[in-house]
Amino acid sequence: MHTELTRRGFIKQVAIGASAAALPMVAGGYSANERIRLGWIGMGNRGEQLLTEVTTRFVREARTVAVCDLLDDRVARGLQLAALDRPKGYTDMRIMIEQERLDAVIVATPPAAHAEVSIPVMQAGIHCLQEAPLETTVEKIDALARVARKAKVVFQIGAQRRYHPGFTAALPRLLEGEFGGITFMQGHWHWPWTLLTHPIDRTGGMFLDQACHHFDVMCWAMSEKPPITCSAMGYHQARPKAGLRTFSPTHVAASFRFPDGRLFAYTHLFCLPKRFTDEQLQIFCENGCLDLIRGMFYDADNTERRIGEASGDDSMKGTSEMLRDFFTVIRDGGGRAPRADLETARNASLMGIMGRMAMSSPSGDAYEPRVIHWADLQTTTDPETKPASTPAGNG
Ligand SMILES: NC(=O)c1ccc[n+]([C@@H]2O[C@H](COP(=O)([O-])OP(=O)(O)OC[C@H]3O[C@@H](n4cnc5c(N)ncnc54)[C@H](O)[C@@H]3O)[C@@H](O)[C@H]2O)c1
Repeated sequence: MHTELTRRGFIKQVAIGASAAALPMVAGGYSANERIRLGWIGMGNRGEQLLTEVTTRFVREARTVAVCDLLDDRVARGLQLAALDRPKGYTDMRIMIEQERLDAVIVATPPAAHAEVSIPVMQAGIHCLQEAPLETTVEKIDALARVARKAKVVFQIGAQRRYHPGFTAALPRLLEGEFGGITFMQGHWHWPWTLLTHPIDRTGGMFLDQACHHFDVMCWAMSEKPPITCSAMGYHQARPKAGLRTFSPTHVAASFRFPDGRLFAYTHLFCLPKRFTDEQLQIFCENGCLDLIRGMFYDADNTERRIGEASGDDSMKGTSEMLRDFFTVIRDGGGRAPRADLETARNASLMGIMGRMAMSSPSGDAYEPRVIHWADLQTTTDPETKPASTPAGNG
């Protein structure tokens, strides 16, 4: 698929976004039997899942031409999974970008390595599907935002709940007011394991690595308006020897207040007996309660009706639809952004940072609850903020 013709055509047809909401227009001209030339960066747990999905369900849409990971054994695993496409292996993404003519890249590196990977990908004119969260610090989120808004490529985020068939059935009806106004939102996501495997400097902590998926859905329910304040408390059952800044707390409760006063309460608890492993996302409305994980609406008079598909215990549901959207937006020639894009992921990740700030002392060395306002984030890429005069950096 990748030819100079398509590349030139793509660049020519791009509408460079004057506002945050403007979409890159992708060139048409990809014939139905051409496969998108795909590269992979990060072949750990999630990279393997996505590559397996692409090689089993999207054979006609994409061909894996290159796989990159810092670790040789992970490159070897990727080459094995995509063996039918005969890809090449790399341990340096810059060499992969130079040597391969890639149409698109899927990035599944740890969250704190997203900006350093996705920025050069987009700057090379390659479409990018990057895993959630957007990034782990405000500075790197801002750097990614500046590059992605200017880039003449599709930039999609792996927030699969935006594609979950149950959620995509329920949220539009909610936003149209079918269930009455929203009164309160709540979510929780509990696991048996400790968190000493998820260092904050690599993952951003569990507000970023996990909860950002719930934050994303709640911003969706709030018509993409992020919260204005957050308060949060955390507790560590297994206090890390290296100090509280190294690992996420095992028990967390956070509350977010949206501009019109409505609240979202979120908890995550770890170190629990296995039977308490559980994910919940509920939106209470004037006429009843929308249970997104079960795909049900419970009326005030206790009747219940199915609204969409349930998740069961499949927190990955929507992944296949998400990949389809990426290939479709690239192939279709633009006019719309992917459903999970820079702007939606930016709000969700900044909410995660708000939560992290709200439960800790300013130094991060103690769990001391504070009220954090959106302005305290000091982001320089809010849509109404004038573009920064300095060029985008590498985060
Ligand atoms: N959407 C979801 O439901 C979901 C589920 C799991 C993980 N994730 C996300 O996927 C991403 C990856 O998570 P994971 O659990 O697979 O992590 P992981 O640590 O298992 O794998 C990450 C891989 O990236 C490689 N890597 C790091 N920097 C690199 C670089 N510069 N170039 C090439 N390779 C590099 C590492 O060597 C590693 O193999 C994270 O952002 C995570 O939050 C999303």
